[in-house]
Amino acid sequence: YKATVDAADLEKGMYPYYMLKEIDEQPAVLRRIVQQYQNSAGELEIPNELKQAVEAADRIHIVACGTSYHAGWLGKHFLEKMAGIPTEVHIASEFSYNPPLIKGNPLFVFISQSGETADSRQVLVKVKEWGYPTLTITNVQGSTLSREANHTLLLHAGPEIAVASTKAYTAQISVLAILAATLSEEKDFALIHELGIVANAMDSIIAEKEQIAELAEAYLTDKRSAFYIGRGLDYYVSMEAALKLKEISYVQTEGFAAGELKHGTIALIEEGTPVIALITQAENASHTRGNIEEVRSRGAHTCVCVMEGLQQESDQLVLPAVHPMLTPLLAVVPTQLLAYYATLQRGFDVDKPRNLAKSVTVE
Ligand code: G6P
Repeated sequence: YKATVDAADLEKGMYPYYMLKEIDEQPAVLRRIVQQYQNSAGELEIPNELKQAVEAADRIHIVACGTSYHAGWLGKHFLEKMAGIPTEVHIASEFSYNPPLIKGNPLFVFISQSGETADSRQVLVKVKEWGYPTLTITNVQGSTLSREANHTLLLHAGPEIAVASTKAYTAQISVLAILAATLSEEKDFALIHELGIVANAMDSIIAEKEQIAELAEAYLTDKRSAFYIGRGLDYYVSMEAALKLKEISYVQTEGFAAGELKHGTIALIEEGTPVIALITQAENASHTRGNIEEVRSRGAHTCVCVMEGLQQESDQLVLPAVHPMLTPLLAVVPTQLLAYYATLQRGFDVDKPRNLAKSVTVE
């Protein structure tokens, strides 16, 4: 029970930090998203004009920054695998300097929690001048990027206050999966059901957060650098996991494609360097295991976060099994908690990391 309340922070309730509250909210947000995108027949649905616009496109260009950019890679995976539309992912601030070759009938998708990021907006302005159709996926109704695009899909995540994005990332992945699934010809993938399983699995990880606090203490408290590694979808999550850890704990962290480490970066592995491996895909588990051995034999302090069914006895963290395409929604949760606890233990302000702003309105 907390007897004093800061009027500016009413929403935080009993939580010490917004970040922890927002991590905890993720299962509820996921269930809310499913409800929001369900029609009266209980099927997932997106607005008809948007569906037509996506179906008319022969290529999708996703444009975003930071965490939203990392969600974009999963969007590419879903759109290509479920909807069969070739998709590229661009860092917004690089778009003008490394512009893609644009041919045919592209659709541009802007992913932005705030809907206000200047780097993304300048691309939207340009693309509109060129006359191409645009979709914004955002958490903020009426935001600039939402108003200026032809179509909007909302994240329904509720306000995200902590600078480090957590529930917006999982909401973005969920909405991208729903978008791709509604365009898919194959109806055998019961996304509503599978997302429900993910929400329950998230709940069970969150219920055991003390275990993750202990891992943070064992692996990260007194470290200057760390690595996340994974292959396939686990690589995409590794990039986001690394951003989370570095942006709030100031542990210099890289998210690496597990197989690429040996082509240079393995030189940085010293006695005790933390290497956290994500293994959620049966098809690449043994290869990632090989990479874990490579770094372990060079002194790395390895931590394996693995999906149930793929685990070995020595693994540190086992995630409940979910549909292989949706593992990122789950695998990111312990990495958010690791970042949170490592930051607390290192004595920094979790919600307001130095030099960062929640929404960046300069280019
Ligand atoms: C800022 C925030 C990041 C965020 C990025 C993109 O840099 O600190 O957490 O991912 O902007 O924000 P957006 O609102 O466009 O998703």
